[in-house]
Amino acid sequence: MPIYHTLGDIPRKRHTVFPKKNGDGIHHEELMGTYGFDGASSLLYHLHPPTTVLKERQLQIVDWEADPEPHVRMRHFRLFDLPKGGSPVLNRIPVLYNNHVAVSFVQPDKSDDFFFRNSQGDELVYIAEGEGVLESIYGDLPYHAGDHLIIHRGILHRFKLGKGPHRYMVFEGTGYFRYPKRYQNDKGQLLEHSPYCERDIRRPESLQVHDEKGEFKLVIKRQNVLTEAILGSHPFDVVGWDGYYYPWAFNINDFEPITGSLHQPPPVHQSFECERFVVCAFVPRMFDYHPQAIPAPYNHSNVMSDEMLFYANDQFMSRKGIDMGSLTLHPAGFPHGPQPGKYEGSVGAKRTEEIAVMMDTFDPVKIAKAVTQVEDDSYGRSWIDNIE
Ligand SMILES: [Fe+2]
Repeated sequence: MPIYHTLGDIPRKRHTVFPKKNGDGIHHEELMGTYGFDGASSLLYHLHPPTTVLKERQLQIVDWEADPEPHVRMRHFRLFDLPKGGSPVLNRIPVLYNNHVAVSFVQPDKSDDFFFRNSQGDELVYIAEGEGVLESIYGDLPYHAGDHLIIHRGILHRFKLGKGPHRYMVFEGTGYFRYPKRYQNDKGQLLEHSPYCERDIRRPESLQVHDEKGEFKLVIKRQNVLTEAILGSHPFDVVGWDGYYYPWAFNINDFEPITGSLHQPPPVHQSFECERFVVCAFVPRMFDYHPQAIPAPYNHSNVMSDEMLFYANDQFMSRKGIDMGSLTLHPAGFPHGPQPGKYEGSVGAKRTEEIAVMMDTFDPVKIAKAVTQVEDDSYGRSWIDNIE
């Protein structure tokens, strides 16, 4: 988990009188915590009570329809061809899902005029393209291409879009996005063999404090229902906070690859874990240096996992027929490996420039019907047909 962090003004002792600077009463303390307040938490100090809800209504039911042809096969979708535009929160297009993770894709073209809180899961938003600022009650966190934005459950936020185009892949997990345990010592510090360290984690940089009353729209996601709530004061009224629970960012280009004389196994690419799935980062790196090494992966059967791979550039060493924005799913049930020519052809190669984000789930996923409109039906034959 991230380290202790603090921004703005906080009182010397928690749970004590903390007068406002303008003399108009005291601040309103909020504990935001997880796992029954046994998990990571933070204390925030608001100008106004965060509890003022003027009214609420049901906005939308989130109902993902599954692909009607669920039989096991290799899948390939070109996500950049999906419909574009809209909100970074409301125009997410379903890609695949199971009971522990839901993946969607969005290509927004405007910032939201409302705030958002996902109260049913943590979010990892991978920024394939675009830049902007993740605004939250914890302050501003600028982002750019290659960032994994970790927005833990319940964190009230808003995407302020900067330069586009914008293409975001959203992983929604029922658990807590965290570092792999083996990267940490028993104090929680990232170890020397970890492919990234605390210096690579970016935290909210500055607080924007709004002392405004009025009507402010918040959309809350819970039990696959979007509720619109009207708050009586601007939610970004936090003058200071401290703790371990806040949004953070890690850029894929800061992932230091682990290489060897022979092919390294998939877990060396792992970036994060969540409840019953893991996320991996494939980054530019030197290939294996044994004189007879085969840099392309051996065929493999991860018999308990479905493997999703999102190609964040067009340089994937073991694949043919994919482009930037492609997403493949190799379900358990078939072994998979390099396509013809890619295995032998990798011998002697020195380096790859690939960037890709992978997810291995421990339970089978369903494909969403919405993504089948951009499916490449020939992908399953790419191991037998001679395609480029
Ligand atoms: Fe694989």
